[in-house]
Amino acid sequence: MNSKKQADLTEKLDLSRLPVHVAIIMDGNGRWAQKKLMNRVTGHEKGAETVRMVVKTCRELGVKVLTLYAFSTENWQRPKIEVAALMTLLRKFLENETPEMLKTGIRLRAIGEIDMLPDSVLSPLKESMKKTMDNTGMTLNLALSYGGRAEISRAVKRISQDVKNGIIDSSVVNEDLISGYLDTAGMPDPDLLLRTSGEKRISNFLLWQIAYAEMFFTDTLWPDFTRDEFVDILLEYQRRNRTYGKVT
Ligand code: IPE
Ligand code: IPE
Ligand code: MG
Repeated sequence: MNSKKQADLTEKLDLSRLPVHVAIIMDGNGRWAQKKLMNRVTGHEKGAETVRMVVKTCRELGVKVLTLYAFSTENWQRPKIEVAALMTLLRKFLENETPEMLKTGIRLRAIGEIDMLPDSVLSPLKESMKKTMDNTGMTLNLALSYGGRAEISRAVKRISQDVKNGIIDSSVVNEDLISGYLDTAGMPDPDLLLRTSGEKRISNFLLWQIAYAEMFFTDTLWPDFTRDEFVDILLEYQRRNRTYGKVT
């Protein structure tokens, strides 16, 4: 239907100046469903389709890392039935998408306290990460049971243990070393951070890593987020001037 329009929009992108790392706070599934007088879980199911679209678009364009905030540390406090439905959706996503990731050269990684996940999610997650570990086309990084402060706390704990055990000297602790102890070790920091659904907050996502990310907020609810809007945001990103505190 609008494939011509899609082609036209992506043609305007400068593919040599894409964000290397895109991070997304996928928000608004519940409100999308409530607006349609449906169960919140239906919103999460519809949201999973948007996930597939965004992964595909990033891979096609040449984004190297895509981090998706799929489940926060705080989300464990939601009603049991919603948490269970989200876990089922995650398991299905991993089972259905791993063959596609293998075909398209996507490596799966995860950040967060993944050991908190039920085994029905943890084992397909580990299996998929193992199967895709040699892929170099793009990294799909799922934030699962993830909280930025918890991540930083875990890093501080490990750094202090390594200092205590004489593995490192406290004089070598600097920004690069700290980055290397975070769950995102080895990944570049996000260049672009997007949140859908109109909320303008970070909700404990990648607190350390977004120091210089370009921020984008859209009122669109995650299940309604389209490829065209995504490409529009990438175009707007390319119009921004990143100065990193300097004068250009
Ligand atoms: C985001 O949608 C998905 C998760 C947090 C898992 P929400 O479920 O937060 O949707 P709203 O914010 O209630 O609309
Ligand atoms: C952030 O959204 C977490 C995810 C998108 C997974 P929430 O809807 O859980 O966060 P708040 O409640 O708006 O801060
Ligand atoms: Mg929300």
